[in-house]
Amino acid sequence: MNPTFRAARGIGGEYTPPPDKSITHRALMLAAIGSGTSTVVDPLATGDCVSTRRCIEALGCSVEDADCAVRLKGAGLRGFTEPKRLLDAENSGTTTRLLSGLLAGLPLFAVLTGDQSLLGRPMARIVQPLRQMGARIEGRDEGRYAPLCFLPGSGELAPLSYRLPVPSAQVKSCLLLAALRAGGDSCISGKTHSRDHTERMLVALGVKVESGPDGILLHPPRELPAFEAEVPGDPSSASFFIAASLISGRKLVVRRCSINPSRNGFLNVVRRMGARVETRQETISLGEPAGSIEVKEGSLTGARIGAEEVPELIDEIPLLAVLGLFCRGVTEVRGAEELRFKESDRLTMISRLVEGLGGRVEIFDDGFALEGPQKLRAGVIDPSGDHRIAMAAAVAAAGIAEGVRVQGFECAAVSYPDFARDFAALGGEVV
Ligand code: S3P
Repeated sequence: MNPTFRAARGIGGEYTPPPDKSITHRALMLAAIGSGTSTVVDPLATGDCVSTRRCIEALGCSVEDADCAVRLKGAGLRGFTEPKRLLDAENSGTTTRLLSGLLAGLPLFAVLTGDQSLLGRPMARIVQPLRQMGARIEGRDEGRYAPLCFLPGSGELAPLSYRLPVPSAQVKSCLLLAALRAGGDSCISGKTHSRDHTERMLVALGVKVESGPDGILLHPPRELPAFEAEVPGDPSSASFFIAASLISGRKLVVRRCSINPSRNGFLNVVRRMGARVETRQETISLGEPAGSIEVKEGSLTGARIGAEEVPELIDEIPLLAVLGLFCRGVTEVRGAEELRFKESDRLTMISRLVEGLGGRVEIFDDGFALEGPQKLRAGVIDPSGDHRIAMAAAVAAAGIAEGVRVQGFECAAVSYPDFARDFAALGGEVV
């Protein structure tokens, strides 16, 4: 699938983004270790989240489809059964790392693997602290990479006291999930500032989780209750059309979207760039606030983004590079070395994307700088199977009259299966 995206009339209007990927993963996993039957309304039902669903099913959790929802019969905190086959996380780092927290120390044998991109992503960051809790985990290259092999344990883990060296929500969440089965309180300190879905959802389920300046303290519960939760729209997916509308100079209203503050870094930056953004909270489900976001254009200037802001917009950085090409002045991101360990090396991919459209960007070890507005031309972009690079490339079409062709665009489905449909519904053309 190599579609060309064009947006001669610009991108704008009103729309609802697909369900949030991070919240869906967590809702499925928490339901899988709950006691009783949980209902997750409007889960993301493709790509990465299907990988999570298949893995928990292989571990003995029954999942049934109901009208726009799934019903899951939880196995309890220690009730997973030994899987008969490999657990395949495919392209999903979140599945791999969070599920590792659920598997660590259980009295069963399991092997967790994934696709070529996943096999290249760092796993020592979870294997080392999980081993510190007493889990027996082996993996390729001494546990640095998947496949990861979980050897049977007693079901209990030792309490953890750990300083997070990387600001990763996946690592933090993996350790919080493992800490649910520890024999005492665990404390995670260091770089804990990243998306906080796991903390919020556990608190909503009655688990004692205290987040403060010294870190996060978790007191293990006896069991987790079943629940009903509604998954809001994904702000990272919505940000593609927010950027496209700003490039087009049109208004966009996003409905039913997560407005969790730990995910709103992109909105903060576009406000600094000169856009007018209003958010309105309408609901809260399992601790997760949701509502509408209204974005109106302004004349946009570039912005500088430093390390402290990066965790709140880590997935939006390739898109910020595209948006920066259409802003007046310098857009610079620093402190984002984690981008090298995503579905692709996203800093290298930013340079390929920008240069593929005839633009210029300077790439650093930990970020990039570019000066806009730049004169761009139609291009053909190969995103190397990375969904966010593919969609960021399509967004550039909002400012390039001849359009942008994206090779292998089907990779977008891991987080946003209907991207092309929404692009067309909001005024673009996909041929
Ligand atoms: C995610 C955390 C982030 C993000 C990923 C989803 C999550 O990864 O890039 O798309 O759901 O916890 P890191 O925690 O590795 O930064």
